[in-house]
Amino acid sequence: MRRREFLAKTLAATAAGLAPRTSKAIDNRVEILIEEPIGLIEPNLHGHFIEHIGGVIYDGIWVGENSKIPNVGGIRKELLDNLARLGIPVLRWPGGCFADSYNWNDGIGPRAKRPCRTNSWINDPFLEKAPDGPAKYDPNEFGTDEFLRLCKITGAQPYIAANLRSLTPLDFDKWIEYCNAPQDSTSLAKLRAANASPQPYGVRYWGVGNEAWGCGGNFTPGEYASEFRRFTAWTPDYGVKLRFIGSGPSGDDFAWTRGFFAGLAAKGKWMFDSVYGWALHYYCGSAGQGQAIDFTVNDWYELLAKADRMETLIQRQWSAMGEEDTEHKVKLVVDEWGAWHRAGTEVSRTFLFGQTPTMRDALISALTLDTFHRHADKVAMANAAQLINNLHCLFLAHEDRFVVTPNFHVFEAYKAHQGGQSVRLMAAAPTISFPAGNTTATLWGLAGSASLHGKKLVLTLVNPHVKEAQPTEIVARGASIRSCKVRTLSAPDIHAFNSFDHPRAVEPKDEMASSGQSLVWNVPPASVTRLEMALA
Ligand code: AHR
Repeated sequence: MRRREFLAKTLAATAAGLAPRTSKAIDNRVEILIEEPIGLIEPNLHGHFIEHIGGVIYDGIWVGENSKIPNVGGIRKELLDNLARLGIPVLRWPGGCFADSYNWNDGIGPRAKRPCRTNSWINDPFLEKAPDGPAKYDPNEFGTDEFLRLCKITGAQPYIAANLRSLTPLDFDKWIEYCNAPQDSTSLAKLRAANASPQPYGVRYWGVGNEAWGCGGNFTPGEYASEFRRFTAWTPDYGVKLRFIGSGPSGDDFAWTRGFFAGLAAKGKWMFDSVYGWALHYYCGSAGQGQAIDFTVNDWYELLAKADRMETLIQRQWSAMGEEDTEHKVKLVVDEWGAWHRAGTEVSRTFLFGQTPTMRDALISALTLDTFHRHADKVAMANAAQLINNLHCLFLAHEDRFVVTPNFHVFEAYKAHQGGQSVRLMAAAPTISFPAGNTTATLWGLAGSASLHGKKLVLTLVNPHVKEAQPTEIVARGASIRSCKVRTLSAPDIHAFNSFDHPRAVEPKDEMASSGQSLVWNVPPASVTRLEMALA
């Protein structure tokens, strides 16, 4: 079928979607244009984030060497086992807003001698009546060497966010020196050896502050551009190509992006060579009453549509960046993203921003990762916020209990895309209409991403419809499909979630599909599907 015919079909199907929701599509089609490459799917698009907040570090990751909870040098073993299964490409730490109050000197050396400090999240009303503990007063048992050990064990690249609001460029230089100076070269290299590692860590990714427009200093974009220049000028690199990531906008704050890029360009366009990434933060929030596990069908659609805004945010921020950085030397780094529900489903009283992800969050994970893949030419890294016991998490843990969430299963399935060539796809399925206030809003009926790995084609699809399966013809233009393995994540109830008592309520199912020139697959309602196709 030529593209014009495909588009005609697409338009017809989309128009059909404006009919009542019960209308059944008969000609859903996904066409993968394997000869239209977009860019390489950097494994770092599947990155993660951990902050000293609530139960992320203490209890979640760090249980301590003397704990009865199985651990590897203090790090929760069950988490490590699951991270080994998942493989995490990059891990951001120590914040978040916490980063701009953190003094790395507090977190090195013998743990018993490290100072206990007030956590900058202490003023959050959620913690007001909570018992004292590490969520309020950080014991600093988990510091630079522990974080880098976690990265080494899991194979993740470390991404450290520096404190720009309350420390100096000299402190930043020294942190880099502590991490990267050659063995025995300086006093800090010797201190590192005495503490943990004679070998340098070779940390490449450095965030220059966090949310500098807010908790990171309330700067104007012009002021932040000056600070960025100051923090990154003549920074010692010890032979490691340092990749500085600027504190970018929240959502659609284009003024912040334009102001920063103009501020750098005022010094000279060569400044763009010193910026690896521009950090976009976008939380789609919640919908309706804002509950994580208790929502209506309309809340389901509303939140998926909000998550889908990532598509236009990437496009529009990218074009704002390109007004000054015309060669697009700077890439986007979406280093905080995910759903943000109201409190009430955290697994412990002190777990600030702790929430229990459901199938709805799984679909948000999937459609967001698909969006990153479709913009693999623009987005160099992304970090879901946050790995454990927090917003949009992959794991829940408290004391000796641990469970993987539906988000974990999506990241595990999507791993098959890593390192592939993202290629264009066209999907046609009836659009979904749903009430939004006094009007009607819409959401696509099927979307996804595709990547080519030699003769293997990976396709992931999201069907957001709560009731209707989408029988779909799948075509790889210019190739035929020899065989196809399918993994599906779906559940009988859109509210399904995993808990300590029901850890396998949501889990994926694997099967084979019969195939030929094309294949037809019935994409289940409210599901995430991965198809791994061998091409002839
Ligand atoms: O992820 C929680 C918080 O959200 C982070 O600390 C901050 O950067 C963002 O506002």
